[in-house]
Amino acid sequence: MGNTYRIITYGCQMNIHESEKIAGLLENAGYTEANESDPAAVVVLNTCCVRESAETHVLGNLGALKKQWEKYGTKIIVCGCMTQANGTAQKLKERCPFLFAVLGTHNIERIPALLLENSKKTLVEIKEEGVMHEGTPVKRAKDVNAWVNIMYGCNNFCTYCIVPYVRGRERSREKEHILAEIKNLIASGYTQITLLGQNVNSYDIDLHGKPMFASLLSQIADLDGTFRIKFMTSHPKDLDKDVVSVIAQSEKLSKFIHLPAQSGSDRVLHLMNRKYTRAEYLKKIDMIREKIPNAGLSADLMVGFPTESEEDFQDTLSLADTVRYNNLYTFIYSPRSGTPAATMDGQIPLADKKRRIQELIDLQFEIGNALAAESVGKTYTVLAAESKNGHILGETECGKAVTFDGDASLIGKFVRVKITQSKNSKLFGEVL
Ligand code: SAH
Ligand code: SF4
Ligand code: F3S
Repeated sequence: MGNTYRIITYGCQMNIHESEKIAGLLENAGYTEANESDPAAVVVLNTCCVRESAETHVLGNLGALKKQWEKYGTKIIVCGCMTQANGTAQKLKERCPFLFAVLGTHNIERIPALLLENSKKTLVEIKEEGVMHEGTPVKRAKDVNAWVNIMYGCNNFCTYCIVPYVRGRERSREKEHILAEIKNLIASGYTQITLLGQNVNSYDIDLHGKPMFASLLSQIADLDGTFRIKFMTSHPKDLDKDVVSVIAQSEKLSKFIHLPAQSGSDRVLHLMNRKYTRAEYLKKIDMIREKIPNAGLSADLMVGFPTESEEDFQDTLSLADTVRYNNLYTFIYSPRSGTPAATMDGQIPLADKKRRIQELIDLQFEIGNALAAESVGKTYTVLAAESKNGHILGETECGKAVTFDGDASLIGKFVRVKITQSKNSKLFGEVL
């Protein structure tokens, strides 16, 4: 097996990028990625715990990995958000004594050092609050897109969400570090940069007392080179007109905004501690559309939050119907222990949650198809991202996915593509 490793990643883009750092740390320590079909000397599970299903996947995978440990002595490391939740690390250590290490979200830098220890007992290292590391080696996926953290953690404490407890308080990276990293990425050929943070609009508040996201965006856009900038995630309460104006003015900024609404009911939004009303949310959408007429929009919407009535759910449906999102990420509320909503009265039966989510999915299916049909005949600037079965998959300046014929040499380039047809919500086009 030699010094080989495999990383299994669950959860959000934050985790995908963190796995690139874990790979960088391991390769710096002399490890190489194992072939897909081979056992590896080290397996790292980078976990998520935002919903129960994410955790169930991890636990299922551990059962299978135990066999690898028995057969090959594979060192299994569990890290990521799940380990940081109250009591989970200890539980993992007790239930899975075959684990080599359980590490918190602020401890991945320790992996190379720990691998040098020949401990028979599971090593557990969990830090409560994160320090930020600069200069961690990163082994990026072969892609046109590069992920760049601008901040870590979250201060919002939405009542359903575990993230603030497992990721700690907001910590912004110094602007100079971010700009230097992006300059390097552009110089090495990346043509899309996606900025990462749980609430990018509060960038820099922890460092200098006021939000500087708009200013950061415009300074990134001023860097030399042809590239596109995206970001996630924006919290609706904090998205301001300065940010929207920068997006409107700069060609380098994607006109696609992911603005998670979570619910369309004021009563539920209040219980969720989202700190905006439906009307305030819709006002932000209007501001976006006024300044950026071709804006693409997506959101996360949740059904079945405790006490959600049929009427509340109708408000969520009507919000989706009013905004007409290009994409919608729909979730069934899942109680996370340690969060206030998990112990609220009025938990909704699963059958009702399932019916509601299906109604929402059906509505979005219609909207997505109609929006796609409206795009036919229009021309977009598309970043060619991936080549698949002789076709190219790309993304328009407003975040729509498009398939078109083209040579793999186009990958990483911007091309003008005319949309020739739509099938359901999918777009097909040709290079002009
Ligand atoms: N910081 C981002 C979201 C991070 S979590 C934001 O504020 O938008 C990603 C999504 O998971 C959330 O938007 C929410 O819709 C969903 N989510 C979080 N906790 C959940 C829970 N307990 N049950 C179901 N969905 C949840
Ligand atoms: Fe979770 Fe809310 Fe923070 Fe997003 S803003 S990570 S949903 S607490
Ligand atoms: Fe992301 Fe899941 Fe953690 S959504 S921040 S990996 S809990």
